Amino acid sequence: MAHYAVPDTHRPFAHPSEDEFARILNFYGVQWLYEPRSFPLRWDGARVVEMFTPDYYLPDLDLYIELTTLKQSLVTEKNRKLRHLREQYPEINIKLLYRRDYHRLLAKYGFGPLVQADVPDVERVLFTKPRIERRVAELGRTISNDYAGEQLVILGVLRGVFCFMADLMRQITLPLSVDFMSVSYYTGDGDEGGVRITKGPDIDIAGRHVLLVEDIVDTGMTLNYLLRYLRELNPASLSVCALLDKRVRRLASVNLNYTGFEVPDEFLVGYGLDYLERYRNMPFIGILRPTEPPQPKSDGEKQSPK
Ligand code: PRP
Repeated sequence: MAHYAVPDTHRPFAHPSEDEFARILNFYGVQWLYEPRSFPLRWDGARVVEMFTPDYYLPDLDLYIELTTLKQSLVTEKNRKLRHLREQYPEINIKLLYRRDYHRLLAKYGFGPLVQADVPDVERVLFTKPRIERRVAELGRTISNDYAGEQLVILGVLRGVFCFMADLMRQITLPLSVDFMSVSYYTGDGDEGGVRITKGPDIDIAGRHVLLVEDIVDTGMTLNYLLRYLRELNPASLSVCALLDKRVRRLASVNLNYTGFEVPDEFLVGYGLDYLERYRNMPFIGILRPTEPPQPKSDGEKQSPK
């Protein structure tokens, strides 16, 4: 799939680390165009006096992305422009990633300023063990009803899914087969080869009803890739069950047939979920709140005028 490199002379951000966003998209095979379109916002007669040029357009996802490295408190002007853009171009799908969102995205892949931050102990419990058990039992009942009379293959995406998968399968009252697959994750250097399946299903899923099970769907890029891969294997049907849906961070729009809980944009750990490989063995799901280290003064907005 073709990608479009940012010319060295026209880097979108003051900090080279922030080009990482484009590299993450490359990794997931998501095409991007850098500043492909300017939207006129205000006119003085026939003359355009204000424009807005989103940083990226992702044609596959029909999504514009604006990244801002400004502090949340300093983005009023940007918000105003965005509001105008949405009013005047309602057909446009645009997402603004604040510095906080962006640093969280980087931390998810194991780098960026938050990774150096102090990680306090779990700040609060979001879902207790009994609450998770109740919800998993409900999901098991719904899935058992929906697939009544069928045989199911439940396919978990390693590794975070193992707690949920083990509990869910015991709540499904149908004959079923269990399998796992795994996929490479973006880690920065040396990932130019892009996302790949590191372990495919061992069971031949052609003609079978497959339920793909995930612990969490965040940007949706992993799931988007997995669904494309699995469809090629010609299952009779392919549905998705995710325990946690972090919808607020979605980039790739993916359909979730069964969802345990919609969750806020926080670092979640426990019940299989990790933060830098810790906390997976907690029986509940909790929130971590790493504090962002102070930014150097030079961490300014992009250099190109808008
Ligand atoms: C989680 C989860 C998904 C992926 C979703 O895996 O299990 O596979 O992230 O993220 P996305 O929607 O942004 O693509 P993680 O990277 O935490 O690996 P792990 O399961 O091995 O802990």
